[in-house]
Amino acid sequence: MSTTARHDAWAAGEAYERYMGRWSRLVAARFLDWLAAPSGTAWLDLGCGTGALTQTILARCNPRSIIGIDPSEGFVAHARATTSDDRARFEVGDAQKLTLADASVDVAASALVLNFVPDRVAALRELQRVVRPGGLLSFYVWDYPGGGMGFMTAFWKAAIALDPNAAELGEGGRFPFCTPEGLAALCAESGLPSVTVAPIEIETRFPSFEDLWLPFTLGAGPAPGYCVSLPADKRAALKERLKRQVGGDGPVSFVARAWAVSVIRDQ
Ligand SMILES: C[S@@+](CC[C@H](N)C(=O)[O-])C[C@H]1O[C@@H](n2cnc3c(N)ncnc32)[C@H](O)[C@@H]1O
Repeated sequence: MSTTARHDAWAAGEAYERYMGRWSRLVAARFLDWLAAPSGTAWLDLGCGTGALTQTILARCNPRSIIGIDPSEGFVAHARATTSDDRARFEVGDAQKLTLADASVDVAASALVLNFVPDRVAALRELQRVVRPGGLLSFYVWDYPGGGMGFMTAFWKAAIALDPNAAELGEGGRFPFCTPEGLAALCAESGLPSVTVAPIEIETRFPSFEDLWLPFTLGAGPAPGYCVSLPADKRAALKERLKRQVGGDGPVSFVARAWAVSVIRDQ
């Protein structure tokens, strides 16, 4: 694991749901409207986490089957426990080396994952291998470099004001390729020369500052992982700084923008 990835904690499903799952479900719905995949098909949800995208696909897309794959045993257990649908199954696995057979799925989707995969080219090549010719390959990542993940940008701004060393841990600096041009270039390098890229936006609305702050104290994800690594006095100072920065006790709202990519696999 690289040093900047040391707080990428993906284990506790409930904590992840509180921090990100509640928003990733909203963006998943918008993404699926945009993707407009055919009904009755076999899906792969790569990096399924706690099951946010899988469950949204089951609810909206009438899949024939869906397999969710994620390296986190805790997240896979959460996804299994919260998905009661015979069409879905979940496996522990790695995007860089899938165990699925060649051309075994019609539609592959991956939500908010690719930036965390060390060898992204390998992951995209694996997706091309497992999607059948003429099938659909798609993914999305937050617009980190554009500051489009508003509440994370606010967190890191407050953190860096108190601890300049935190600058290297923020997703904006770690994942500069999460732009339309960067994603298109990554896809081209991976053998996908002509992809479609589009923005998907949601509002992340917190009824109170405490609702914004609490998930950072639960440790699931890079910013929460950093937050819980701080000693109590520094964490309290960060909380006060963030609260001042966002204007007090709330409510508070931010825009969250993802870049979605889709391409039809060569026939
Ligand atoms: C931000 S979460 C997104 C989870 C879920 N897709 C969602 O939309 O809520 C990032 C996910 O990427 C997964 N991940 C990290 N490295 C991975 C890899 N090499 N292969 C597959 N998934 C990976 C993590 O375990 C985590 O579940």
